[in-house]
Amino acid sequence: MRPLFDIAMKMIIDTDPGVDDAIAIALAHALPEIDLIGLTTVFGNTRVDQSSRNARFLLDMLGSDAVVAEGASKPWNDYPFEPSAWVHGSEGFGDIVEVPQIGTNHDQNAAEYLVEMARKHPGDLTVCAIGPLTNIADALKLDPSFAQNLDKLVIMGGNLHCPGNITAHAEANIFHDPAAADAVFASGLNTVMVGLDVTLQTLLVPGDFAALAASSPKIGGFLNRISEFYLGFYKEVANLDGCPMHDAAAVLACSNPDWFGLEHTGLRVSQDGETVGATLADPNRPKVAVAIEIDAVATLTKLKTHLAALH
Ligand code: BDR
Ligand code: CA
Repeated sequence: MRPLFDIAMKMIIDTDPGVDDAIAIALAHALPEIDLIGLTTVFGNTRVDQSSRNARFLLDMLGSDAVVAEGASKPWNDYPFEPSAWVHGSEGFGDIVEVPQIGTNHDQNAAEYLVEMARKHPGDLTVCAIGPLTNIADALKLDPSFAQNLDKLVIMGGNLHCPGNITAHAEANIFHDPAAADAVFASGLNTVMVGLDVTLQTLLVPGDFAALAASSPKIGGFLNRISEFYLGFYKEVANLDGCPMHDAAAVLACSNPDWFGLEHTGLRVSQDGETVGATLADPNRPKVAVAIEIDAVATLTKLKTHLAALH
């Protein structure tokens, strides 16, 4: 067991690993402010069975005793879904095609595990959701007191004042289950949205990954290897010489909220037409804290420093 920072924040990460998810999970494990107790998995970048396998592989590599509870395999309302293999690779980890199956999943599913942990730690659990919001919406359905029992939900997803990334209007995590995301925004759950307005400012460049691999050969070396494919995607589609740390930005919004400027607004999610998946301001909805500013230098410095120290 690692010594914990003063009173570390208990956290569950809801995830679809995924290259930037892997980086976010490694960061949460590395940060003394965070006590990572579990990963709940969801379809998204990958099928859910791949997400769970990748999550268990990562935790084993990191030496973490967090559990993996498997969640939704498809969006609400049978909304069409295809894993984002062109962004994260066919197995979720770039060009690595054989990720070993290590250990087993928790016997509760993701929604059951989320509900039970929130009941067990009332007001003391943060959920950081870095994939489609299906498991969170399922947990709200399963237990109406889930919203009150959580300290907060911090999501990577959405876009308020900038275009989308999977369509001109929508960010990928929200787009993959617009109905579930809308249910979360309607619920009154204490929510921070860390979306493209800020995450597109958090680029790591190839030299950052090379430096990481040099200082942390095992874990940094793995993250460097899987990031090659992800870097290639951003080069090809956006001519960027770096890749955004979308999911790690959400973890840093938990550990360092002062580095984020917030706008408080109600939100709804467009359910059809060409804007499907867009996160739209709605004054009739409960207020969500939307990150619209970020101290990108501070966040990236902290990310690189803590990842480099992982062994
Ligand atoms: C989000 O979509 C996924 O591709 C990433 O892992 C991140 O959670 C960015 O839009
Ligand atoms: Ca993700």
